[in-house]
Amino acid sequence: MQPGSKLPALILLVLMGTELTQVLPANPEESWQVYSSAQDSEGRCVCTVVAPQQTMCSRDARTKQLRQLLEKVQNMTQSIQVLDQRTQRDLQYVVKMEDQLRGLETKFRQVEENHKQNLAKQYKAIKAKMAELQPLIPVLEEYKADARLVLQFKQEVQNLTTSLGLLQQEMGAYDYDELHSRVSSLEERLRACMQKLACGKLTGISEPITIKTSGSRFGSWMTDPLAPEGDTRVWYMDGYHNNRFVREYRSMVDFMMSDNFTSHRLPHPWSGTGQVVYNGSIYFNKFQSHVIIKFDFKTSTISKTQRLDSAGFSNAYHYAWGGHSDIDLMVDEGGLWAVYATNQNAGNIVISKLNPINLQIIKSWTTNHPKRSAGESFMICGTLYVTNGYSGGTKVYYAYHTNSSTYEYIDIALQNKYSHISMLDYNPRDRALYAWNNGHQVLYNVTLFHLIRSEEL
Ligand SMILES: *[C@@H]1O[C@H](CO)[C@@H](O)[C@H](O)[C@H]1NC(C)=O
Ligand SMILES: *[C@@H]1O[C@H](CO)[C@@H](O)[C@H](O)[C@H]1NC(C)=O
Ligand SMILES: *[C@@H]1O[C@H](CO)[C@@H](O)[C@H](O)[C@H]1NC(C)=O
Ligand SMILES: *[C@@H]1O[C@H](CO)[C@@H](O)[C@H](O)[C@H]1NC(C)=O
Ligand SMILES: *[C@@H]1O[C@H](CO)[C@@H](O)[C@H](O)[C@H]1NC(C)=O
Ligand SMILES: *[C@@H]1O[C@H](CO)[C@@H](O)[C@H](O)[C@H]1NC(C)=O
Repeated sequence: MQPGSKLPALILLVLMGTELTQVLPANPEESWQVYSSAQDSEGRCVCTVVAPQQTMCSRDARTKQLRQLLEKVQNMTQSIQVLDQRTQRDLQYVVKMEDQLRGLETKFRQVEENHKQNLAKQYKAIKAKMAELQPLIPVLEEYKADARLVLQFKQEVQNLTTSLGLLQQEMGAYDYDELHSRVSSLEERLRACMQKLACGKLTGISEPITIKTSGSRFGSWMTDPLAPEGDTRVWYMDGYHNNRFVREYRSMVDFMMSDNFTSHRLPHPWSGTGQVVYNGSIYFNKFQSHVIIKFDFKTSTISKTQRLDSAGFSNAYHYAWGGHSDIDLMVDEGGLWAVYATNQNAGNIVISKLNPINLQIIKSWTTNHPKRSAGESFMICGTLYVTNGYSGGTKVYYAYHTNSSTYEYIDIALQNKYSHISMLDYNPRDRALYAWNNGHQVLYNVTLFHLIRSEEL
């Protein structure tokens, strides 16, 4: 991490055509323009919307389209609010940590004063730990600045909404098709920017919350990270071996409070606990094979079947707990991934990015971590995190960054409340870890630090 690096802001400007001809490169008289430059002089990401001059008004009165546009901007506002909430949540954690850090520092000084003569070994150890933590303080400062920038971004989008509303009232219609496509492209870029802001490196895992106690020792459960707003349907698969019935609970609350569910019968039984529900389909490893199946819940049909060539299966390269857990499918901010091991890579973990439509491998990475000695693994923002075991004291201790094809050893505690974790997966929408722990379905929150350099945008 680079404590000194500047964080980017996202800026939206709505400018009326008459005032800004010299500010911007293209011809503002023709239509609306949306510019997204990588950065301004302070390294911030700038998006600029230019309205056409009033004389270009075509008086089409296509107010419906403008309404849609407004809605889109409102939707963007909502997304930003979600981002804001997450950032605020992380911020609370950061502030707490900072207090602890400063408290420790003060305490240590006192101890040092009182024991000037006999500085015991343990004090030296504390001092070393302090020195190690000291560089965190500027990082935390940066983080707080980041949270402020998200707030600013939120306000800018609110301002854009207001401006569009005023336009609607005062000026009637423009070339809305053009405007529409420009705003769509702006939306896309903003989403990309926001995704970057929402991503980061795992720095902490909360204590678990037990959502439900049900099923056998092994299983998996999840929500769909691409489900529409308000859809919190829970998908539940008990057992790792030769089962094919997936339970659907109407909502997280239903899941917690009741045993009211719908059952889906898959055309083939599954192996392991590596299934994932993504955009309305379940992706699973077909029993005793290296075949991945995409099954659409809405139509109850297989939409794609694909062999994962060279992947070990049927306990060739399971996770430490066994259970035919050879092929683990997962989703992060960047899409769908498969984690498995091959003979070619000597039983070490291989990570493949998959196309969610045709299940073709887009790119693969070979790691140096033996699959059989991994407890579980999960992907966050393109980094694979591996735990050291499934029972007893558990921690996340190995991270493989696909962005740079590098790995590092880390040490992040993971409380293993019921002593047998047979499934652990990240959900990028909730920014939470879903786990199946000895017949208990538990959730953990994660804290991600996101220091972004402007050139990444
Ligand atoms: C805004 O979001 C709602 C709910 O997710 C969706 O139904 C609607 O189509 C979205 N509007 C636009 C213009 O994207
Ligand atoms: C949003 O608009 C208000 C009122 O016009 C203005 O005071 C504020 O500075 C604007 N915010 C940003 C971030 O541009
Ligand atoms: C890759 O991602 C990790 C963690 O998110 C980050 O620390 C690292 O700087 C990134 N490396 C490159 C080359 O972008
Ligand atoms: C059970 O769930 C179904 C939908 O999954 C719903 O239609 C039904 O009303 C629920 N029944 C009870 C008793 O909650
Ligand atoms: C999700 O599925 C819909 C169709 O059901 C598709 O239009 C959309 O592109 C999919 N999104 C992703 C990210 O795969
Ligand atoms: C995660 O954080 C949210 C928001 O602060 C909170 O409502 C939820 O209970 C937390 N979940 C866990 C597992 O700690």
